[in-house]
Amino acid sequence: MATIGLIGAGNIGSQLARLAVAHGYDVVISNSRGPETLTALVAELGPHARAATVVEAAKAGDIVVVTIPLKHYRTVPAEPLAGKVVIDTNNYYPQRDGQIPELDNESTTTSELLQAHLPTSKVVKAFNHIYAAQLTTDGRPAGTKGRRALVIAGDDRGAKATVTRLLDEFGFDVVDAGPLQGGWRIQRDTPGYGPRRTAEQLRTDLAAAKRYADQ
Ligand SMILES: NC(=O)c1ccc[n+]([C@@H]2O[C@H](COP(=O)([O-])OP(=O)(O)OC[C@H]3O[C@@H](n4cnc5c(N)ncnc54)[C@H](OP(=O)(O)O)[C@@H]3O)[C@@H](O)[C@H]2O)c1
Repeated sequence: MATIGLIGAGNIGSQLARLAVAHGYDVVISNSRGPETLTALVAELGPHARAATVVEAAKAGDIVVVTIPLKHYRTVPAEPLAGKVVIDTNNYYPQRDGQIPELDNESTTTSELLQAHLPTSKVVKAFNHIYAAQLTTDGRPAGTKGRRALVIAGDDRGAKATVTRLLDEFGFDVVDAGPLQGGWRIQRDTPGYGPRRTAEQLRTDLAAAKRYADQ
């Protein structure tokens, strides 16, 4: 069974840790302030979880999730993530992240920024459009009628297959939005961003998405 490393232990990081432990994974979780600040979370998660530094979590994970305020993406350590599948949950909120010109002019996307920062990692965009609390309430077994779906995007087919299996285990159908470049179709303020959607509904949402400049 694989180990999931988490860089970020906030709303999404802690919820993904709960979900992963519930599905039999080991998790190594980190934040900016250090492992000693994660004692309560690790105690709650139980024996399959430990807290570590960011570098240790990156090294330990077979799959590593980056789930931090976007403005800090350049602090994510590239070397220990070389060659690995990296899940990116991050979204762009200028009021929190400051203005990022290449996102403002829509010449790139949030996950492409992370991919450029981690050139030999296999970045897959996932979990960016579901509220943290719903990660542990909305999953259903495969085949359940009306099962909620989540979007992925990525440039590496094998990495997307890995993340698709993980999402399915966690209880969600998967809709592939194509390469990372297509991730804008599920960014903040698009139709699929936030609401519960089946795979069929999400495909409609992705097709209806508009660039910020066209909204
Ligand atoms: N909240 C949601 O429902 C939701 C849903 C989908 C996607 N997202 C996106 O997912 C990302 C995480 O959201 P969140 O709500 O979980 O954020 P959050 O609750 O503010 O948590 C952020 C976490 O990142 C850690 N962190 C900050 N800077 C770091 C760094 N340089 N290195 C390592 N860890 C660092 C923080 O640690 P410290 O506390 O020690 O600084 C904290 O554990 C954001 O980009 C957000 O837009 C959020």
